[in-house]
Amino acid sequence: MPETIQVLDKTFVKYITDKQIEEAIQRVADQINEDYKNDTPIVLITLNGAVFFAVDLLKRIKVPCRVTCVKVASYSGTQSTNKVQNLIGLTEDLTGQRVLVIEDIVDTGRTYSHLVEMLKPTGLRDMRIATLTYKPDAYKLDLPIHYVGISIPNKFIVGYGLDYNGYGRNYNNIYQVVE
Ligand code: IMP
Ligand code: MG
Repeated sequence: MPETIQVLDKTFVKYITDKQIEEAIQRVADQINEDYKNDTPIVLITLNGAVFFAVDLLKRIKVPCRVTCVKVASYSGTQSTNKVQNLIGLTEDLTGQRVLVIEDIVDTGRTYSHLVEMLKPTGLRDMRIATLTYKPDAYKLDLPIHYVGISIPNKFIVGYGLDYNGYGRNYNNIYQVVE
């Protein structure tokens, strides 16, 4: 019997286990540790969803780094909207820094392109993105996604930080919507 959960008015079925998430995070951490071995990047966490991934990833990152957060929002319900809002802005001076953005999910890429535009004027040295999940069929940009934990089909998911209207973040596993 597949495990299902109810979040608000929707039913979700278990889709990615905590074990698979952990393996994906270790893989991403290994790549980052190799790529940044001579650097001291600044890790930029996008609140709220990426916090779960960021904590587990950062525990496996062995290069000296600093950590900061921003908060942007583009979603309403299960639909990406055209407008990305800045809810909490940048507090750190990024001049000359290598910035590693941590995302829970890249869907259309709108949030990512908003972050790229937001960071451009800061004088940073380079920016890369690490995302736990990625929906290649929904992605609309040419910008590279440097570190991907797990690629998934274009279906709505919750759990491990990902929410449906604010709920469903507090699960160890990731669940996919039942349509
Ligand atoms: P994008 O701007 O379309 O790439 O969407 C990125 C943001 O939309 C993410 O940071 C999430 O907050 C939200 N999002 C996109 N797809 C999902 C999903 O399947 N579940 C939960 N949130 C999602
Ligand atoms: Mg989010």
